[in-house]
Amino acid sequence: MTTAAITAVGHYAPEKVVPNSYYESYLDTTDEWIISRTGIRERRVLEHGATSDLAVEAAKKTLAMRGIGPEEVDCILVATVTPDMFFPSTAALVQHKLGATNAWGFDLSAACSGFLFALATGVQFIQSGVHKKVLVIGADKMTSIMDMSDRNTCILFGDGGAAVLLEPNEEEGYGVLDWVNYLDGSGMEALHMKAGGSLHPASMETVQNKMHYITQDGKAVFKVAVVGMADVSIDIVKRNNLTSDDIDWLVPHQANMRIIQSTADRMGLDMDRVMVNIDRYGNTTAATIPSCLAEYYESGRLKRGDNVVLASFGAGYTWGATLIRWSI
Ligand code: UT7
Repeated sequence: MTTAAITAVGHYAPEKVVPNSYYESYLDTTDEWIISRTGIRERRVLEHGATSDLAVEAAKKTLAMRGIGPEEVDCILVATVTPDMFFPSTAALVQHKLGATNAWGFDLSAACSGFLFALATGVQFIQSGVHKKVLVIGADKMTSIMDMSDRNTCILFGDGGAAVLLEPNEEEGYGVLDWVNYLDGSGMEALHMKAGGSLHPASMETVQNKMHYITQDGKAVFKVAVVGMADVSIDIVKRNNLTSDDIDWLVPHQANMRIIQSTADRMGLDMDRVMVNIDRYGNTTAATIPSCLAEYYESGRLKRGDNVVLASFGAGYTWGATLIRWSI
């Protein structure tokens, strides 16, 4: 059976670095609090441009790594909660900026699980034989929806984009081996953006009431994230007749270092088998997981034959895990 494999990866982090000390300068917070409660030391901010620019830079690096031109891409999937605009889709803007003249595509909204949901979608196009090259991109300009006066949320997020190329794989036992994703909309209250959609269209009132920003009950999300991300990761390992000893890398969504550590603990994995870059980028929502893949691959730590579990938890609630035997 044809499976789908990741044949290239690319990550783009905007140049501007914002350290925790920036928030100390105007908020009642400290570098020590932010590091100890979240693991974040600094994040990147896109000063000019939009999510499509993050996505395009990541896509260019991915295609360059594979050595192919944009016209070879069949389909572009963009996971994001910060599209450039409601319509056209960010995928359309990426298609145009990239010059991917033979591609169709669309956006997909699943917050911090966006990349895993998009990956599972892209895998279907490859496995069915419909497409040969699918670009799966996770990109978010989180600073565009952050209330910079809310210390509960503004310290957590950053901007970034990352992409993978999916292609058919005929090698037995390699590529994307399994995935499981979940959706539970009863979690909406704990993490959402109130206005800008059809429920509360933009008005003077929605702006004055700060309804165009992230609203999060951090404690509530923390509790369910710890259990949800670990359970789904343990499940996917078990149902593929593997044990934690067989897993070379856990690639968790980078929302909070304590959630990452707890997921690793519950899976019985040492932290030296867990990909982490939250300290340098914060939570970039759909970009966290592919950005880890790109950085660890580029530095030679992620190698062909490694068993990799990608795991996420985010707004919706959405959560999931994907099992990959790395093939490049
Ligand atoms: O990626 C999408 C999914 N999102 C997540 O997975 C995020 C999950 N949640 C979290 O990561 C954590 O809950 C936070 C990092 C958001 C907060 O950490 P916490 O340990 O859960 O803190 P808390 O919300 O319980 O707040 C503890 C105290 C509070 O003060 P009081 O009420 O005890 O006096 C907060 O007001 O810390 C206070 N606090 C801060 N203090 C200094 C909250 N933010 C800050 C801050 N600096 N930036």
